[in-house]
Amino acid sequence: MQIKNKKKHKINIISSLPKHVAIIMDGNGRWATKKGKLRISGHQAGMKSAKKAIYFAKNHHLDALTLYAFSSENWNRSNKEVSSIMDLFIKTLDKEIHNLHKKNIKLQIIGDTSRFKIKLQNSINRSEKLTYNNRGLTLNIAANYGGRWDIIQVAKQLANQVKQGFLHPDQINEDIFCQYICMNELAPVDLVIRTGGEYRISNFLLWQIAYSELFFTDVLWPDFNESIFENAIHVFLKRKRKFGSSTIS
Ligand code: FPP
Repeated sequence: MQIKNKKKHKINIISSLPKHVAIIMDGNGRWATKKGKLRISGHQAGMKSAKKAIYFAKNHHLDALTLYAFSSENWNRSNKEVSSIMDLFIKTLDKEIHNLHKKNIKLQIIGDTSRFKIKLQNSINRSEKLTYNNRGLTLNIAANYGGRWDIIQVAKQLANQVKQGFLHPDQINEDIFCQYICMNELAPVDLVIRTGGEYRISNFLLWQIAYSELFFTDVLWPDFNESIFENAIHVFLKRKRKFGSSTIS
């Protein structure tokens, strides 16, 4: 992977690069309010930043990028805002999916999509099917996703396995648990970026980020761009990752 350092010289960094980056895209509403616009225009601008992040990840050969688009708690927003976000999802997905496919990007949605309108569910199914065999970048969109929901869906599947006699409770360990958690087939999340100046995880990936590095920025999501992504990677590269041991990896 080649990224530019602060002095804009290109540098080659072979090892230690993040393979999987996850982003909490926060600050759309505040961005719009600051500009005297409706919140939905913040989400529209946020879509443009998401596109920048996706192509940055693709061009820099990340294995996976995971974007927190709609949490299980976001249903608590006004009906008007929720339905305009849903409309934006359908419109953007239908418009962009062929570009993603051309770029060899595999799209998958993580979260409980059963609560979405049939039109959105159909759009998601079509898009996932179309890009299923792509190997360029896996783009995970977390939609109606919650880290606690994810852990509970694992617990339910394990309970079913036990009930059917395929598994003994004593056999349950991290490896077995991991087989059911979302994105288990992908590289572990190395880096979590959160925009919008809040310093919390907000029920995003809980199990998956046990040893992820965290990067927070005050920049509001619609103002996010490639150089902020690059800076986050530079900060990540300077971190000493120990994964609980006393030696540095
Ligand atoms: C966070 O800002 C944004 C959301 C919860 C909504 C949806 C996200 C997008 C439209 C970005 C791109 C999405 C995809 C599918 C790639 P906020 O509304 O919580 O901002 P605030 O904290 O300023 O109110």
